[in-house]
Amino acid sequence: PLISNLYRTAYHFQPPRHWINDPNGPMYYKGIYHLFYQYNPYGSVWGNIVWAHSVSTDLINWTPVEPGIYPSKPFDVNGCWSGSVTILPDGTPAILYTGIDAQNHQIQNIAYPKNLSDPYLIEWVKPDYNPVINTNGVNASAFRDPTTAWYNPKDKHWRVVVGSRRGDRGLAYLYRSKDFKRWVKTAHPLHSSATTGMWECPDFFPVSLQGQNGLDTSVNGPGLKHVLKVSLDVTRYEYYTVGKYLTELDKYVPDNTSADDHTGLRYDYGNFYASKTFYDPAKHRRILWGWSNESDSVADDVAKGWAGIQTIPRSLWLDKNGRQLVQWPVEELETLRGKQVGLKNTVLKSGDMVEVKGILTSQADVEVTFDLPSLEDAEPFDPLWMDPQILCSKKGANTKSGVGPFGLFVLSSEKMEERTAVFFQVYRAVDKHVVLMCHDPSRSSLRNEVYIPYYGGFVDVDIKKEGKISLRTLIDHSVVESFGGGGKTCMTSRIYPSMAVGEKAHLFVFNNGLEDVKVTELNAWEMGRPKMN
Ligand code: FRU
Repeated sequence: PLISNLYRTAYHFQPPRHWINDPNGPMYYKGIYHLFYQYNPYGSVWGNIVWAHSVSTDLINWTPVEPGIYPSKPFDVNGCWSGSVTILPDGTPAILYTGIDAQNHQIQNIAYPKNLSDPYLIEWVKPDYNPVINTNGVNASAFRDPTTAWYNPKDKHWRVVVGSRRGDRGLAYLYRSKDFKRWVKTAHPLHSSATTGMWECPDFFPVSLQGQNGLDTSVNGPGLKHVLKVSLDVTRYEYYTVGKYLTELDKYVPDNTSADDHTGLRYDYGNFYASKTFYDPAKHRRILWGWSNESDSVADDVAKGWAGIQTIPRSLWLDKNGRQLVQWPVEELETLRGKQVGLKNTVLKSGDMVEVKGILTSQADVEVTFDLPSLEDAEPFDPLWMDPQILCSKKGANTKSGVGPFGLFVLSSEKMEERTAVFFQVYRAVDKHVVLMCHDPSRSSLRNEVYIPYYGGFVDVDIKKEGKISLRTLIDHSVVESFGGGGKTCMTSRIYPSMAVGEKAHLFVFNNGLEDVKVTELNAWEMGRPKMN
């Protein structure tokens, strides 16, 4: 088969061809979900950026419509870069986006729907009073990606954040407006961090202290915390903190529960960038979209004629521990589940590997729970092991340890010449156990031109008390998207096998640790193919 078809995804969001990057302006409006995204209409490398636009009633089946925003005015002749939607109190959606002007300055513009009774919101109008935020007092080549705005009823002002940098300092500039038209920079940024470099695609929103419901972006008061997420163009990773929004001072102060720099918490410890959330009033949830770039060569992107996907939209909420977020694929994804196979109460002794047969495993949704009868032999944890990604790359899925590695081999060839491992490993620290989750793609492809980094994250669970850990992995031809510990630690990899493709892909559950591991339950579903643009 053509390389273009081998790696196309079935149920992850992508257009029929060409380059895509950031998700933009996701929203729910009159019964329809909208997703815009950065798109090159002329090729499969970055450039000529417009806001492509698709609509859906279920976040799973997508219909393309005309691009919503494209270069047409002096204030965006050189590109329509990332931005967000704010639903105004009368229900009107307003787009704030970064326009690239004739001087290649990054300025912030507004656009409104031409016809509010069109639920598809196909045509957008850019008022001539644009830009609404100019580059006064900022670095004009590092000033972009406005957030969804929020409203403070006390002082009757809107506020919005724009990402920037000053030297190595990442900045979230804050602007205020009475009328959503004239915006004034506040005396201090909402927040900044000294060593991160540019903050792209900031996102700032409240999360409830209790339960899984989301909150509309303007909601404030007791019973909630705020989350600030930024994307770092230097590392190509995002990180977030959970903290307090001091409304009177117009300051965000992170709780001291995780690092406020590139070593901090991530939504996703893999190939996932420029993400954005929105509040879905239909199901009272906050939904996260993130872009997953190709990690194949540029030459192959050109040969394929397409590049980039969006990960599965995820609901997200604050964990009970108040320290981190939890994410889970939106429930609508389960409507694609077809033929199901599974295992029950299967003990995996050291070195055991069991194949999960009977479905197309290159297009599947797998959920598994591992029982850990004993942690006695857990390998001691070296406190110098700070970076989980490096730890994963040192250990890999085939290095025997006390408890683990155990997990799944996905996109495997029959004789394991190719395989991608998704696994856990448990260590014993001084006063607790440490759970590591990894993607090991070191043997994912016999092709050597592909970029295949290990990914890793720690899972903040009390494994001794719970005695078990769960894993859900979405496999979609060139994507492996995993949710560990019920969605506490997530990671996405792009994988390009040469043999383990289509019907030739196999799925195994394995245990390479010394201690037994019991699969209490494993369910694997073949996934259907939704309407995808
Ligand atoms: C992030 C980003 C944004 C910018 C857009 C341009 O991937 O660099 O900062 O607005 O992409 O396409």
